[in-house]
Amino acid sequence: MIIAVDGPTASGKGTIARALAAHFGLPHLDTGLLYRAVGKQTVLNGGNPDDPLDAARAVDFPDSLLDDPDLRSETSGALASRVSVHKEVRAALLERQRAFAAQPGGAVLDGRDIGTVIAPDADVKLFVTASVAARADRRYAESLSRGHEVTLEDIRADLAARDERDRNRAEAPLVEAVDAILLDNSDLDANASVAESIRLVEEALSAK
Ligand code: DC
Repeated sequence: MIIAVDGPTASGKGTIARALAAHFGLPHLDTGLLYRAVGKQTVLNGGNPDDPLDAARAVDFPDSLLDDPDLRSETSGALASRVSVHKEVRAALLERQRAFAAQPGGAVLDGRDIGTVIAPDADVKLFVTASVAARADRRYAESLSRGHEVTLEDIRADLAARDERDRNRAEAPLVEAVDAILLDNSDLDANASVAESIRLVEEALSAK
């Protein structure tokens, strides 16, 4: 069974994907982390994230980089969004993600193009979204708790820029799959959002 969870930055899709994986006993892949690692490795190589060749060279990042806590920072998220526009980068990460999805028991993957490109035949597709205001408030609280010095203004601006770039890029833009279930969790806290997503997925599975 493959469950695809897509949505914009700070929509809570990561929390939901982790919870679904635990609930259904499936392995989980946070695909954003792969793009974050490519962004960081590009900079470590002295490359330019906006240059397709520099970014594509960075797909050979060491696996240990995935454990770097800095990958969770806003800076890494913005870098990831920049390298993710390059088709060379997306192509190089495609097989890794498809192989994860093809594990015998199934898997949960979260990202931007799981239901549209990586696993178009996924058994269930969730598209998780929330208003910009709700997502900015969450990201702000999360950044403060991690000890990052940020302002709500900066978070809002960064979020708007990333939404814009992720939705309007030519390659695999952030878009809801036609057969995705929409969950707008603007008015739900994390627990309620997780409970609702489990309910939606179970409902979709029982209707199959
Ligand atoms: O989900 P995230 O915030 O960790 O993702 C960081 C960036 O990586 C996001 O702004 C766009 C890119 N990304 C992508 O293009 N495709 C994915 N499947 C996952 C992330």
